Amino acid sequence: MAYRTLRDEKRLTAAGRIEWDSRSTQASALATSQYKRDFPLLLHNPDLAFLDSAATAQRPNAVLEAQRRFYETMNANALRGLYRLSVEATEAINASRTHIASFIGLKGKDDACDIVFCRNTSEALNLIAHSYAPMVLGPGDEVCITIMEHHSNLIPWQQACKAAGATLVYMYPNEQGVITEEEMRTKIGARTKIVSAVHVSNVLGVANNVKRMAAIAHEFGAVMVVDGAQSVPHFPVDVTELGCDFFAFSGHKVFGPMGIGVLWGRHELLKAMPPFLTGGEMIDFVTEQDATWAAVPEKFEAGTQDAAGIFALDAALGYVESVGFDAMRARERALVTLCMRRLSELGFVRLIGPDDPNAHHGVISFNVCGIHPHDVASILDMDNVAIRAGHHCAQPLLAYLGIGSCCRASLAFYNDSGDIDQLVEGLKHVWRMFNG
Ligand code: ALA
Repeated sequence: MAYRTLRDEKRLTAAGRIEWDSRSTQASALATSQYKRDFPLLLHNPDLAFLDSAATAQRPNAVLEAQRRFYETMNANALRGLYRLSVEATEAINASRTHIASFIGLKGKDDACDIVFCRNTSEALNLIAHSYAPMVLGPGDEVCITIMEHHSNLIPWQQACKAAGATLVYMYPNEQGVITEEEMRTKIGARTKIVSAVHVSNVLGVANNVKRMAAIAHEFGAVMVVDGAQSVPHFPVDVTELGCDFFAFSGHKVFGPMGIGVLWGRHELLKAMPPFLTGGEMIDFVTEQDATWAAVPEKFEAGTQDAAGIFALDAALGYVESVGFDAMRARERALVTLCMRRLSELGFVRLIGPDDPNAHHGVISFNVCGIHPHDVASILDMDNVAIRAGHHCAQPLLAYLGIGSCCRASLAFYNDSGDIDQLVEGLKHVWRMFNG
């Protein structure tokens, strides 16, 4: 591997060859963040450098207020009641469904009914693996994923393949984190029934060309599943343009609440699939020994929905739209560029992933020479710097990179250069503690 890992001394000099775009790292624009005041946790903790947004983002006031407004003004069990409050809760869910559909590029009148609410991306992917996969997978068939998968988009397919006697096939990236067309064509073929790929890697930060994967998958009659947990918070997604068949994301990574996630699927596929979870509100008619199912999406939404969470997710997407992806991306790219430059100047830090900061989508993974990532993160915490360290729920990827674990700083548009200064000073502190 040509990632700049601890093992690969020859490549350590590569950081020196990175051409930094000085225009995108204008210090003055990044010195403060006008956005922090929208996020109470950041506002009330000015000494905290929160650099773990890929694990979960902070929530703006708009989301917290929406959650509260739901419970204060429209709390009732949606879908069940015939009284005003319940109807309002139902209408709020329906309006959110329409907004979410449009947020991922679906503008059609009936598209909202293909938005299925789940707890998170993991549940959405499990739904596909449990409901769709058994319909198409048999002995000798293949499911094709990438080595970059988070366990959420890996273990469900391992299990589905084991159950069906099918094989799990991996696509691997080149030195700059790119899964080439050649690699796609080597791995996706006549035996492939499902291709499932992470849109943006939670460790490398790279965006996969899921549009090409979808096109190749379709040449062979396979379906394309996209794990959008780390892409939806960073750039506009249009599932129609991507040409995928299923797309999943989590609310909490896109500034919404924890415990609410979204699965979009092509209507004809969702319609043909059996339910994943069974119980209340997902039925059409029940007799003592049998049941028929409600239409999509209710067929996949057993039990009481997190209506307040759905309402607050709607508000989160509204907040993102009010800031605008252009502004968010410009700021995030500048911050990532600055952070990579500052880290590469520390002789004891080894960056992991592509050289191009614009390929990182908020995520910068690194290691500190000779110091375990858990020690790094714990000492940084003493300096009020929050990063994630470990295997990042992507053990096969880390094994492929030749590292058991790593540190990860993940940025969002609400960060500022002060957060990066704090990280850099914290890392110098870590280094001094171990090296006198
Ligand atoms: N998937 C989340 C992360 O990468 C939890 O940290």
